[in-house]
Amino acid sequence: MFLPKQRKIRTFALLIGVITFTTFLFSYTFRDPSVDFFRHAFRLSDDFLSKGQCACPRCVAEAEDDPWFAERFNQSVHPLMTRENSVLSEETFKWWQWLQSERRPANFSEVVEELFRVIPDEVLYADAGPKRCRTCAVVGNSGNLKGAQYGALIDSFDFVVRMNQAPTTGFEEDVGAKTTHHLMYPESAKDLDNTTSLVLIPFKTLDLQWILSALTTGTIKHTYTRVPSRIKANKDKVLIYSPTFFKYVFDTWLEGHGRYPSTGFLSLMLAVHICDEVSVFGFGADQYGNWHHYWEENDLSGAFRHTGVHDGDHEYNVTLQLADKHKIKMFRGR
Ligand SMILES: *[C@@H]1O[C@H](CO)[C@@H](O)[C@H](O)[C@H]1NC(C)=O
Ligand SMILES: *[C@@H]1O[C@H](CO)[C@@H](O)[C@H](O)[C@H]1NC(C)=O
Ligand SMILES: *[C@@H]1O[C@H](CO)[C@@H](O)[C@H](O)[C@H]1NC(C)=O
Ligand SMILES: *[C@@H]1O[C@H](CO)[C@@H](O)[C@H](O)[C@H]1NC(C)=O
Repeated sequence: MFLPKQRKIRTFALLIGVITFTTFLFSYTFRDPSVDFFRHAFRLSDDFLSKGQCACPRCVAEAEDDPWFAERFNQSVHPLMTRENSVLSEETFKWWQWLQSERRPANFSEVVEELFRVIPDEVLYADAGPKRCRTCAVVGNSGNLKGAQYGALIDSFDFVVRMNQAPTTGFEEDVGAKTTHHLMYPESAKDLDNTTSLVLIPFKTLDLQWILSALTTGTIKHTYTRVPSRIKANKDKVLIYSPTFFKYVFDTWLEGHGRYPSTGFLSLMLAVHICDEVSVFGFGADQYGNWHHYWEENDLSGAFRHTGVHDGDHEYNVTLQLADKHKIKMFRGR
């Protein structure tokens, strides 16, 4: 009696399985709305697994599972400057002023006040929660993007973050055409279209005066070198990288390696703190070990790897560790 009964149950279970699978396959093939039920069910279980941190299958901010990440990740340090968080601690202000010291800096708080009369003073992207799934691509400038054909993929992300001189025109197939955020400093500035947020990384008070000038009167033409006196950018979308966050990245994530973090690393950290899912393109050397830009031919290894300003090896190490812990996804190009 025992064996046949078990066999009956097994047959029954098998039958149910086959029916479920066929239904699934059928509805998938014919785009039946019941697929959404399955998707929904899976998404719900993802939410359950991710403890409701975000609506993506995996959330960057889920820190509980990784002590290395949890020790470093601090979501209460806001990456972008507002009037309110622009008041720096004495320690931060000292460190920040030392980065590119000025002989006679203007009054910082007065400059900030003037600046926020021109650019918006809003707290952005602080809406992390169980309903949000913000996917981001951070696109570095490495030659490993040449011929990588990532264009369509990169353009499919909610945010696409680029930096410094990065062009897209003529390179769309490899790097995409969309840019939601472009990080730069006065000496690396370029014109943007009006749908892109210019994210200024300030290294000195003069940089804050420069962005104001470049958007209005065009009077500042020189910092420690010639800089564009005017810049095309939508002033309603200009954002300022917070010096407090800058120092947090340096102290906490780089543990003080190098003189200060590179634009690439600062961009990556911005994304890690405002996105739920982060994909990284164009970081590191190409397949031949060359460190050049995707729009240039020559090897620049002398130019930006061994200046001592940035600790490229350490930054890359931290980046690889983030990938190893599934906090970011690396696309290595060619
Ligand atoms: C996170 O940053 C806030 C604001 O700077 C600070 O008060 C807090 O101590 C930090 N938390 C940790 C765990 O370091
Ligand atoms: C900067 O300006 C503010 C407001 O005008 C003033 O209170 C402050 O003392 C000034 N700081 C310095 C260092 O001069
Ligand atoms: C953005 O640029 C386009 C084309 O140059 C223009 O038609 C549009 O009015 C601009 N929008 C804003 C908000 O400036
Ligand atoms: C990278 O990090 C690991 C783990 O912290 C460490 O053992 C290794 O020495 C680091 N390598 C470099 C090149 O800094």
